[in-house]
Amino acid sequence: MDNNVVQQLNYTDELSLKDKEIELFGQLHKVEWESYQQITKNFTLNKLKVELGKFNSIEKFDIVYFDAFGPRIQPEMWTLSIFEAIYNLLSQDGILVTYCAKGSVKRALKEVGFKVESLPGPPGKREMTRAVKL
Ligand SMILES: C[S@@+](CC[C@H](N)C(=O)[O-])C[C@H]1O[C@@H](n2cnc3c(N)ncnc32)[C@H](O)[C@@H]1O
Repeated sequence: MDNNVVQQLNYTDELSLKDKEIELFGQLHKVEWESYQQITKNFTLNKLKVELGKFNSIEKFDIVYFDAFGPRIQPEMWTLSIFEAIYNLLSQDGILVTYCAKGSVKRALKEVGFKVESLPGPPGKREMTRAVKL
């Protein structure tokens, strides 16, 4: 991401980050697309510029933090076909977690085969959703 944008967003102050955290946060933004970069001993970031619906992988994933724009803004990200694609990318017992608690989204996740649970949301949000691949 453009360093100017990162500075304007100013998350380091907003989140009261400390020295080492500021350094790690900066590194996250400097990772090139289509490359792997080791951020810490146990965390390597692989940043890919690809549409989710077109992403293929032989590797399976344990968790998807689904932080798409909301269903009203970008409805095409909340469809059965997107949830099916994520289901297929997850390992057994893999988890999709989203801030969205909309009934239609939870029904679509169930239809694809997920076990769907409602969890308490972050501050300011009553509920969020966890979907587990059985
Ligand atoms: C609410 S933002 C999430 C930002 C993210 N959590 C982050 O920290 O960068 C939604 C993101 O989804 C991306 N996006 C929109 N359509 C997409 C698609 N079809 N496939 C993959 N990503 C998409 C947007 O570019 C945007 O960065």
